[in-house]
Amino acid sequence: MPKPLNLYANCTINLSGRQINAVHFASLSDEEKILVYQWRTSPEIANMMRTQKFSMSEHLDFISGLKNKTSDFYWLVKDSEKALGVIYLNGIKDGGAELGIYAGAGIRGAGFTLMQTLYHLAFRELKLDTIRANVYADNTAARKLYERCGMTLEPGKKADCADCDKGETCVYVINSAQTLRELK
Ligand SMILES: CC(C)(COP(=O)(O)OP(=O)(O)OC[C@H]1O[C@@H](n2cnc3c(N)ncnc32)[C@H](O)[C@@H]1OP(=O)(O)O)[C@@H](O)C(=O)NCCC(=O)NCCS
Repeated sequence: MPKPLNLYANCTINLSGRQINAVHFASLSDEEKILVYQWRTSPEIANMMRTQKFSMSEHLDFISGLKNKTSDFYWLVKDSEKALGVIYLNGIKDGGAELGIYAGAGIRGAGFTLMQTLYHLAFRELKLDTIRANVYADNTAARKLYERCGMTLEPGKKADCADCDKGETCVYVINSAQTLRELK
């Protein structure tokens, strides 16, 4: 029986033979806190998020507040020592949570690895049942990624967001049974 990871620490996960590190925000070095702030406030990432502007001191307070928190988890994901991006699970309650993701500013093609790491943490470690993603309808890169990772538009919501106005969101969902079949 594998030992459960300490999700507040630096977790090493084996993803199809690759060693991926998920470093909880409470365990970031000072340099990593700065790097994450630079990424998260860069226009290419901030424009896709609900909260767009915040100061470095707000960022540091936010990180301090995550220590031992059980409803919200944020991790910096690294492949060997290369930082790829950030993943998070918000509002964990009754087996459900909202996911969040961003690749490091200027990094392309890391989305799939970030999502596989997130699935591992959400379904294998936290044993959640369902995760959802709220995404701006015109965020093509994120929507392509979610679909490639098996997420589907939530039943009962708009089936086709192609005609949504800018600023409207759609909701993708996936559950543990779907995902655990594919995670090795
Ligand atoms: C969402 C995100 C993690 C996806 O990462 P990724 O899967 O590595 O994707 P890339 O950015 O390299 O691009 C993915 C695909 O979308 C395409 N794409 C990117 N921007 C696009 C655009 N504006 N219009 C059309 N296609 C676009 C890329 O060409 C690529 O297609 P391909 O796989 O067929 O070649 C990354 O784009 C990101 O961090 N975005 C900013 C933050 C964000 O939007 N987070 C999600 C909030 S809900």
